[in-house]
Amino acid sequence: MFEEAQYFAPVTTDEDGSLKVHLGADHPGFADADYRARRDALATLASNWRPGAPCPTASYTDDEHRVWQVVSEALVTKHRTYACREFLDGKEDLALPLDHIPQLAEVSDWLAPLTGYRYQPAAGLVPLRDFYGSLADKAFWSTQYVRHHSVPLYTPEPDVLHEVVGHGNTLANPRFTALYELAGKASRRVRTTEALEFVSKVFWFTLEFGILWEGRDMKAYGAGILSSPGEIEAFRGMTIRPLDITEMGTQLYDITDYQNVLYAAESFSQVEDVVGTFWATCTDDSIAAVLERHPAHA
Ligand code: TRP
Ligand code: FE
Repeated sequence: MFEEAQYFAPVTTDEDGSLKVHLGADHPGFADADYRARRDALATLASNWRPGAPCPTASYTDDEHRVWQVVSEALVTKHRTYACREFLDGKEDLALPLDHIPQLAEVSDWLAPLTGYRYQPAAGLVPLRDFYGSLADKAFWSTQYVRHHSVPLYTPEPDVLHEVVGHGNTLANPRFTALYELAGKASRRVRTTEALEFVSKVFWFTLEFGILWEGRDMKAYGAGILSSPGEIEAFRGMTIRPLDITEMGTQLYDITDYQNVLYAAESFSQVEDVVGTFWATCTDDSIAAVLERHPAHA
């Protein structure tokens, strides 16, 4: 079973067609009835979306806008210090608001002239094939809910802050979106589950949790580090290994906590050369040959 499934709360449909999100007892919003009602409402909203339509408008509460503001403001200086150049360029061009949550439809409009990527609203877990495959069509499946106000610095559940502040600023830069597109095309080229998981693990350790050297400074380019004011302060203290496709594609990871093993590229160009080329060329057979020599730790 792929790890990603575990951090999405299960969603079920009631007789009236509305969705219910089942938060675990350890979820910070478990005992918060207002939060649970919001999660159900936003999942229901997303489930009524149809391909081709703009993302539905989620009317956020003042409390939700405040969580966005707290996290976005905390990230202003942290990004300046720890985000790679290409992310900062995208961030400058996208110019997201700091004081309120933008709508996914608005962010899609802002991305259109920059890279042409657009958001699609997800009610819950999007199957791997669909999530990655859509990247080849310049579409990015995204959650719309906000992390619980008690956990602004880090959440194991991807929320709109992660999707928009973490991924959105990268989706605003054509050097990044070339990589997203290659990952999408790779996912459509491979047929076996093993190969798809390998492709997605490489995505995890690069576009989600990648770091790189800018001269003597270690910077983050992964959206998962860049959306977490807590993790962005911690990544330099983790076990850092050189970029290695075989290792990344077979490495196990814990999705519920800061990533303690990270792969550092020598530069953004090395990500393009090594990771871009891998996605551009990998096949079921090439990945099976690698797995034959290095079984995945699954
Ligand atoms: N931890 C991230 C944050 O706090 C969000 C996140 C949750 C995430 N699950 C993820 C990021 C999986 C990347 C991959 O912003
Ligand atoms: Fe992500």
